[in-house]
Amino acid sequence: MGRLTVTNVSRTFGKKGSASTKALDNVSLEIKNEEFVCFIGPSGCGKTTLLRIIAGLDLPTSGEILLDGIQITVPDPKRGMVFQEYSLFPWRTVIDNVAFGPQMQGIKKKESLKIAEKYLELVGLEQFKNSFPYELSGGMRQRVAIARALATEPQVLLMDEPFGALDAQTRNTLQYELLEIWGKKNVTIMFVTHSMDEAVFLADRIVVMSARPGKIRDIINVDLPRPRDRTAPESNELRNHVLKLLAEERDK
Ligand SMILES: Nc1ncnc2c1ncn2[C@@H]1O[C@H](COP(=O)(O)OP(=O)(O)O)[C@@H](O)[C@H]1O
Ligand SMILES: [Mg+2]
Repeated sequence: MGRLTVTNVSRTFGKKGSASTKALDNVSLEIKNEEFVCFIGPSGCGKTTLLRIIAGLDLPTSGEILLDGIQITVPDPKRGMVFQEYSLFPWRTVIDNVAFGPQMQGIKKKESLKIAEKYLELVGLEQFKNSFPYELSGGMRQRVAIARALATEPQVLLMDEPFGALDAQTRNTLQYELLEIWGKKNVTIMFVTHSMDEAVFLADRIVVMSARPGKIRDIINVDLPRPRDRTAPESNELRNHVLKLLAEERDK
C-alpha cells in the first residue's frame, strides 16, 4: 500500500478570460510503496500545488492521481500532511493535537488519547503531552506535527518544507529521526525541500522540477546506504549535480 501513480497532471489557476497561471504542466510520475521521494525546484514551480492535489485539497485541471489504484478526489486520513509551520491548533494541548485525527475518524476519546500517546512516544515527546504548542521549540512543534500526521496511520505522508524554518542543527536531528520513523512505519513519503543537502540525505529519489510551468526536469536515484555521511564524496557529487540542474533552471 502507498503506491502513487501521477498521470499527466496539469493545474492552471485563474478564471476563463483573464490571465492564468499554469502551475503544473503534464506531470507524470510513479512512486513506489514505502518510497521516500524528495521534490526540489525553484520557488513557484508547483511543488505545493502537487502535494495539495495529492492530499485531495485541490483538483488537477487535467490528469489524474491514483493511490493504490484508486483515484484521489477528496482529503482522506490515508494521506497525512505536514507543513512548514503553524500546522498545530494553538488552543489544543500537544496530546489533543495528536488525538484530533483519530477522533475525526470516529475513534472514542479515550482510545484516541491512547493512540496519541503512542505517537508522542515515537517522536520522543511523551513528557510534553500536556503542553501547548507555544510552549515548545520549533523543532518540538514539528515533531508534534509529524506525530499528528502519523496518528491516523496514513499510507502516504506529504511533507511541505517541514524543516525549512528550523536551525541547521535541529534540522539535521529531525531528518535523522524522520528516517528512523520511516523505517518503523510502512509509509510512503513525499517531501518538498529547498535544500540539496536534505534531499541527498533523505531521499531514495530526488525529483528536480523546472521553473514555471512546473514540469519534471530530472529524477535522480540516490543509491547510498543509510545512515548517510553528509560529507562523503558520493553525497557531494550528488549535491553538485542537483545544484547544477537548479542553476540551469534559474538561468533559463
Ligand atoms: N490558489 C491559487 N490561486 C492562484 N494561483 C496559485 C494558487 N496556488 C498557487 N498558485 C500559483 O501557482 C504557482 C505554483 O505555486 P506553488 O505550488 O505554491 O509553488 P511552490 O510550492 O513550488 O513554490 C505559483 O505561480 C503560484 O502563484
Ligand atoms: Mg511551496
